Amino acid sequence: MALNADDKSHIQAIWPCVAAHPDEYGGEALYRMFLSNPQTKTYFPGFEIHKDSPQIKAHGKKVVNALTEASKHMDNIEGALGNLIDRHAYDLRVDPGNFKLLAHHILVTIATHFPDKFDCMTHQALDKFLAAVGAALTCKYR
Ligand code: HEM
Repeated sequence: MALNADDKSHIQAIWPCVAAHPDEYGGEALYRMFLSNPQTKTYFPGFEIHKDSPQIKAHGKKVVNALTEASKHMDNIEGALGNLIDRHAYDLRVDPGNFKLLAHHILVTIATHFPDKFDCMTHQALDKFLAAVGAALTCKYR
C-alpha cells in the first residue's frame, strides 16, 4: 500500500526521535527480535546476544540509519536502498518472512519509548513505511 501524504507527515514527525539514537533503538529492536524469534539469530553467528551487546548496537545503528535514508525518499524507497536490496537478495538471502518480524520489533521499540507520539495514525503510518521497506528489500528475490 502506497504511503499517502498523512502517512508521510506522521513519519516525518516521529522518525527524527528514532534517528537521534540509532544504536540504542536499532539495537533494542534487534535484541527483541533475537529473544522473541530466536531463529533469526542464525543470520548473525558472531554476535554476542545480550542487552548491551556491542555487535547488536552497531548493527542496529546501520539498520536505523538505512531507515532514516528511506524516510527521506519515501516516494522512491527502492532507489534509496539500492545496494542494500542487492545485498539482502543475492548475498545474505534473508528469508522474506523475517522482514515482518523485524518491522514488528521496531514498532514495539518505538511504541515503548515514545508512547505519547505513538497514536493510532502514527502506528499505521510506521507499519506501512516498514512494510514498504520490507517489500523493497525483497523485490529482487526470485
Ligand atoms: C528494516 C529492514 C532491514 C534493514 C533496513 C536492514 C539494513 C541492513 C544494513 C544497513 C546492513 C549493513 C549492510 C552493509 O554493511 O553493507 C544489513 C546487513 C545485514 N542484514 Fe539487514 N536489514 C533489514 C532486515 C534484515 C533482516 C530481517 C535480517 C535477518 C533476520 C537481516 C540480516 C542482515 C545480515 C545477516 C546482514 C549482514 C551483517 C554483517 O555483515 O555482519 N536484515 N542490513
